[in-house]
Amino acid sequence: MARLKTIEWIHDTIRIIDQTKLPARLVYSDIDTIEQMYHAIKKLQVRGAPAIGVAAAFGLYIGVRDFSDAGSITGFISHVKKQAAYLAGARPTAVNLFWALNRMSNTVSGCTQRFSILECKEILLKEAKLIFEEDIAAGKAIGKNGFELLKNVTTILTHCNAGGLATAEYGTALAPIYVGKEQGKIFHVYADETRPLLQGSRLTAFELQQAGIPVTIICDNMAASVMAKGKIEAVIVGADRIAANGDTANKIGTYSVALAAKAHKIPFFVAAPLSTFDLTIRSGKQIPIEERDANEVIFGFGTQTGPEGVDVYNPAFDVTPGRLITAIITERGVLYPPFGKSIKAMTS
Ligand code: MRU
Repeated sequence: MARLKTIEWIHDTIRIIDQTKLPARLVYSDIDTIEQMYHAIKKLQVRGAPAIGVAAAFGLYIGVRDFSDAGSITGFISHVKKQAAYLAGARPTAVNLFWALNRMSNTVSGCTQRFSILECKEILLKEAKLIFEEDIAAGKAIGKNGFELLKNVTTILTHCNAGGLATAEYGTALAPIYVGKEQGKIFHVYADETRPLLQGSRLTAFELQQAGIPVTIICDNMAASVMAKGKIEAVIVGADRIAANGDTANKIGTYSVALAAKAHKIPFFVAAPLSTFDLTIRSGKQIPIEERDANEVIFGFGTQTGPEGVDVYNPAFDVTPGRLITAIITERGVLYPPFGKSIKAMTS
């Protein structure tokens, strides 16, 4: 199946699909500076936790490659750390951003006087490419593991976009659906529209339609009613950060979907690579939740939908407590409750 090239390293440049233009136009954007990458992440031109991590890794390399090769190694390392701190300010919730930047910074910390700056730059680019490749592999493995859980159901509901557009290639929540297609099983996906930025209707519906997978868009406030009508057999979503106890931050509205799934006895799965786990935090209460501009809610996509000057609350994510999650699907296997124990066992 030909896949969308969400992020590509091509001709020494990062090429991304500008997701703010979808689904009306498939526009690619070339990123040549770290400032452009900061902007692309902040404005959601590239978005979705794993994709943000991969993009940031390449963005950091771009941000340091012009450092003078005649300078000192320690000067170069501190420049890398400074640039990483700058990119880390683009968005606060998806831990993959910090995970990727830390991994890049730690790689270069290993550069000693034995290495030239040129060599350190090559090491950094190699690491960014590895992060990219590993994300593709993780998506495929999540797809296989998830398909084993889902192969006996047909209708699935998802929220936001955790597909190829949110990762280097396969996706997380949509990966089992793609694996199903490869194996001759066609799922029917209900895509929550996902207010306010419509990642469900603009992106999930777009990429599933491109892949020839039946998809039905519903408004977010229809999910419980569609479940009550018996149309949904399982829910699967992605994650932006998973705490050590399994509490999961994902796109705003995920928590309500999990509550509705519980009320209707529908299994609720989270699909995420291990790079989305933050074991430094014990529970979801410690996950920083991004708040975004009011205009996304009352002036979305150029149409005024609320009175000027009105108070707006616009958190981009919420936290679904681990107790509402049936299982977490990772590239290494499936985690079941109690998540504190299973996550520890898998990661230690
Ligand atoms: O604000 P976004 O579009 O970056 O939010 C994306 C999500 O919430 C996704 O569900 C999550 O990052 C998982 S992507 C595999």
